[in-house]
Amino acid sequence: MKKVAVIMGSVRTHRINHVITNWFVATSGLKDKFNVEIVDLKDWMLPPYDEIVAPMSLKGAYTTEHGKKWQKYIDGMEGFVFVTPEYNKSVPHALKTHVDYLFTEWNGKPTSIVSYGYSGGDSSSDHLQSILGRKSAIQVKMTETLPQLLLKKDIFNEKWEIADINSSFAQYLPATKKVVSELDALFKSSTK
Ligand SMILES: Cc1cc2nc3c(=O)[nH]c(=O)nc-3n(C[C@H](O)[C@H](O)[C@H](O)COP(=O)(O)O)c2cc1C
Repeated sequence: MKKVAVIMGSVRTHRINHVITNWFVATSGLKDKFNVEIVDLKDWMLPPYDEIVAPMSLKGAYTTEHGKKWQKYIDGMEGFVFVTPEYNKSVPHALKTHVDYLFTEWNGKPTSIVSYGYSGGDSSSDHLQSILGRKSAIQVKMTETLPQLLLKKDIFNEKWEIADINSSFAQYLPATKKVVSELDALFKSSTK
């Protein structure tokens, strides 16, 4: 089975990211097709990129232990699903920092994005698509389906927790399952 990392884009103490990530992994069928690892960036918390040259010129010669460790870890992954909130029309800085560290380790790998926000995280998804492809030096193989989950006010309880995620996000189940089948198709077309 191909190794797919599900990368959690928020590192806030009171985040809802873990709830959404766990819901996605549980309901999408991702684990039926792939060897899944959930990557909590809170376990990494890399400082801003600070090597002497850009990752594309560095060619893997990281000078810090944390850089070497992150490089080795992501290099060992074969595909990615980024689960990202939207912060001020973009992705959280921690997610951008962890992407910025690497280059070839992302390139060419089947990837998808699940975004969420008060407007569905459309801008964060759009930004991340640019960061990981389009005109960027990084070029992943992106799924066509990129679910955008709308956080309506009435899905939250008084503690700002999602009261019943399964019913709140039931409408997105077909899209999450499509993500899995499209990732699978991207892996198959890569080996042809
Ligand atoms: C700093 C900040 C900026 C935000 N900006 C936006 C935004 O531009 N668009 C949006 O739809 N939601 C925005 N939100 C709302 C988040 O989508 C919502 O709080 C979500 O729960 C954040 O994900 P997290 O709880 O996993 O960190 C923002 C939240 C934060 C903390």
